[in-house]
Amino acid sequence: MFSAGILTISDKGAAAERHDRSGEVMRDILSGIGVAILNYAVVPDEHGLIVDKLTEWADSGKVDVLLTTGGTGLTPRDVTPEATLSVLDRVVPGLAEAMRAESLKKTPMAMLSRAVVGTRGKCLIVNLPGSPKAVRECLEVIIPALPHAVETLKGEAGDCGPAAA
Ligand code: MTE
Repeated sequence: MFSAGILTISDKGAAAERHDRSGEVMRDILSGIGVAILNYAVVPDEHGLIVDKLTEWADSGKVDVLLTTGGTGLTPRDVTPEATLSVLDRVVPGLAEAMRAESLKKTPMAMLSRAVVGTRGKCLIVNLPGSPKAVRECLEVIIPALPHAVETLKGEAGDCGPAAA
């Protein structure tokens, strides 16, 4: 499969005022499909701390996909998309568009997530919204595309034929 890092971005989670259910859900779903979870951390909604973790993990060269949860909305503390954009080489709008489009079938609040997806070096960085429900719903949408995303990013993919569909 591929390797992953999970970064939960939450003031309450980082202060141990809230149990990190979203990170747990993400870990269970990904481990369940054979993904190796190499990194896990909870940080508060602080631009600098988010940037530090994203760059440290992405630049380690070990993590294929780095998934964040939380901080994508509109509260004054939500800075995950801005922090993520500041470390990306390229944006991959299709993954974020697909998550929002499918999520809209479940809740109109999906419009409120400003999640972004992109690449830094050979690492794919994916923002997911903060609730365990949103994590489940969004992962369901993108998981089918992740193995091929990782292969292409590493330059290991063959032709994008029907087998990749
Ligand atoms: N997407 C899905 N699939 N399911 C959800 O329940 N919740 C929305 C949205 N995206 C939701 C979703 C809500 S209520 C908000 S406020 C935004 O994500 C931003 O969430 P965040 O600030 O926790 O990242």
